[in-house]
Amino acid sequence: MSRTPIVVGNWKMNKAPREAIDFAQQLEARVRNFDSVETAVAPTSLALSGVADALQGSPLKVAAQGAHWEASGAFTGQVAADMLRGLADFVILGHSEVRAYLAETDANVNRKANAVLAAGMQPIIAVGESLAQNEAGETIPFVRGQVRAALAGISAADMARVVIAYEPIWAIGTGKSATSQQADSIIGAAVRDTLRGLYGDTIAESTRIQYGGSVKPGNMAEFMAQPNIDGALVGGASLQVDDFAALVEIAAEMNGE
Ligand code: 13P
Repeated sequence: MSRTPIVVGNWKMNKAPREAIDFAQQLEARVRNFDSVETAVAPTSLALSGVADALQGSPLKVAAQGAHWEASGAFTGQVAADMLRGLADFVILGHSEVRAYLAETDANVNRKANAVLAAGMQPIIAVGESLAQNEAGETIPFVRGQVRAALAGISAADMARVVIAYEPIWAIGTGKSATSQQADSIIGAAVRDTLRGLYGDTIAESTRIQYGGSVKPGNMAEFMAQPNIDGALVGGASLQVDDFAALVEIAAEMNGE
């Protein structure tokens, strides 16, 4: 089954609105002609509206870095999924930095995923184990649990809009990527196989699963060559136009463009 690769730049807490807009425009000019790969950038929420305006009508899409599950109310500092309608196509949820520093739980990731789907957007749900879990051999059961918890209550029909990102915590921002074979086998055993149990073969084979963690132009081809990996969720290398454009170009070339 063919799955359209998806390459998303997670800018994290970088690029204030003016810089975000300039960067998005420069990047847009470099990636708009690749049509076999879906692309998106995830600016800070403050820059979403400016970047969304700048990219109106472009194949380069916009992702938000989070969303609250309630439509409105007394939730200081939060942005409702409903408020992102028209500004973002995707919303990144469950990122390990949010889990680690802001006490994000599996239950809240699930509430947010349901809210994002209800608001008509596509959640990108990040899962992944710590170094200690990896070394203790707990990766597969732990990641399977994260996937199951995140997807509770999500219908088979809505799964067409869900993207999952496997990001081993020990590979994020460390320069230490998982080997492509390691990542592929964990994605197969912990993510795709969990989807198979929950939704059956067709959905397991059609859901897009990204790898994230120190993806760079120099290792992108290896990841994209793996049968279970459908693109990348990229931090550091997404902050440079040349690097991010190179990642998209590699994904497109390897997809026959
Ligand atoms: P790096 O690409 O900087 O390792 O970050 C990965 C990541 O966390 C993307 O969400």
